[in-house]
Amino acid sequence: METLLSSTKLTTPLHLQPHNSLFSRETLFNSSSFRLKFSRKSNSCVQKGTLSRAFRVFASSSQAAPAEVSTSSSIPSSMKAWVYSEYGGVEVLKFDENISVPQVKDDQVLIKVVAAALNPVDFKRRLGKFKATDSPLPTVPGYDVAGVVVKVGNQVKGLKEGDEVYGDISEKALEGPKQFGSLAEYTAVEEKLLALKPKKIDFIQAASLPLAIETACEGLERSGFSAGKSILVLGGAGGVGSLVIQLAKHVFGASKVAATSSTGKLELLKSLGADLAIDYTKENFEDIPEKFDVVYDAVGQGEKAAKAVKEGGSVVFLTGAVVPPGFRFVVTSNGEVLKKLNPYLENGKVKPVVDPKGPFEFSKVVEAFSYLETNRATGKVVIHPIP
Ligand SMILES: NC(=O)c1ccc[n+]([C@@H]2O[C@H](COP(=O)([O-])OP(=O)(O)OC[C@H]3O[C@@H](n4cnc5c(N)ncnc54)[C@H](OP(=O)(O)O)[C@@H]3O)[C@@H](O)[C@H]2O)c1
Repeated sequence: METLLSSTKLTTPLHLQPHNSLFSRETLFNSSSFRLKFSRKSNSCVQKGTLSRAFRVFASSSQAAPAEVSTSSSIPSSMKAWVYSEYGGVEVLKFDENISVPQVKDDQVLIKVVAAALNPVDFKRRLGKFKATDSPLPTVPGYDVAGVVVKVGNQVKGLKEGDEVYGDISEKALEGPKQFGSLAEYTAVEEKLLALKPKKIDFIQAASLPLAIETACEGLERSGFSAGKSILVLGGAGGVGSLVIQLAKHVFGASKVAATSSTGKLELLKSLGADLAIDYTKENFEDIPEKFDVVYDAVGQGEKAAKAVKEGGSVVFLTGAVVPPGFRFVVTSNGEVLKKLNPYLENGKVKPVVDPKGPFEFSKVVEAFSYLETNRATGKVVIHPIP
């Protein structure tokens, strides 16, 4: 993330004609009328943007109302949470009404969780794949959170009670992730991992973003992706892929974005910014003659992915075998990335993609995990409301 704090000014105008159908459960796949027209040069999703022209913003029509929030004087000592005490399948997940509300360290805030999202790392961790570096059981799962600050630690400088925030609560996804995660009424999080929630998105949408958008951004940066380059995104309809397409096209200034999905999701890929949507049920992406500067593999397609890259190009592997010239990384949570992407969420150039089967109620977390584990989710699986 060396380029994370670079601050090249973005002065090229942004012209915007957003369509808010991506935010609507009913119309998720009818979003082909969503069009963006712009030209800009940028090589980082975290450069400070100067939006130099007026633009129109269309907010979601389905804003999730914030939960009624306790103040620091009325925070209970115990809370409802999902928890597991042994590794295994969804059957180890238990609903518990008597989990202690986490204590807040000096650099942390306590969040009343309004919405949380699931990530594949949640179920891989629950299956015990990262036992060696996991925090001790029992575990309250959940990395992604959106909610309201109800208490601040002594050294917290930038946040106060009542702030609406979002973030990925575990700085290192696999090395000692938090024992008390976001699938709970309250969660304690370091200030540096959080950002204020953009006003134009609701809590459900905000919860859908942190881990996936930070992964998308970090992978693009590590691959050396920059304006004018082409990219092939494998798994374009998933939580990470749907954001890689958007960041590559609308933030980094890709010359061409290609992406793969099954037949029913091709229109979604195009609405997000893909110039070429490849139906993997009908076509082998590695057989098309065109090669790409970067291949971003969110599926784990190893050798095939490496065949699609240009000589001298780069392949990001999020999962599965790493094949030259590819590399793998594990995302680092960082609130600065969210802060710097917030303008793109405020102006609608980057849109959260919430799976239309959700949001799942808090009582339906087992169903939500079962669905995510089919590997067929579209965008993010979100849990809301949380009591
Ligand atoms: N290293 C890291 O830091 C990091 C960070 C985040 C995620 N990850 C990993 O990256 C992977 C993706 O994460 P995610 O959150 O994006 O998962 P996800 O949202 O669960 O991905 C589901 C999507 O994958 C698509 N898909 C499945 N097989 C496909 C194929 N053969 N070709 C194209 N698309 C396919 C599905 O589309 P169809 O229904 O159309 O098939 C579905 O929309 C996971 O293994 C996750 O653990 C790693």
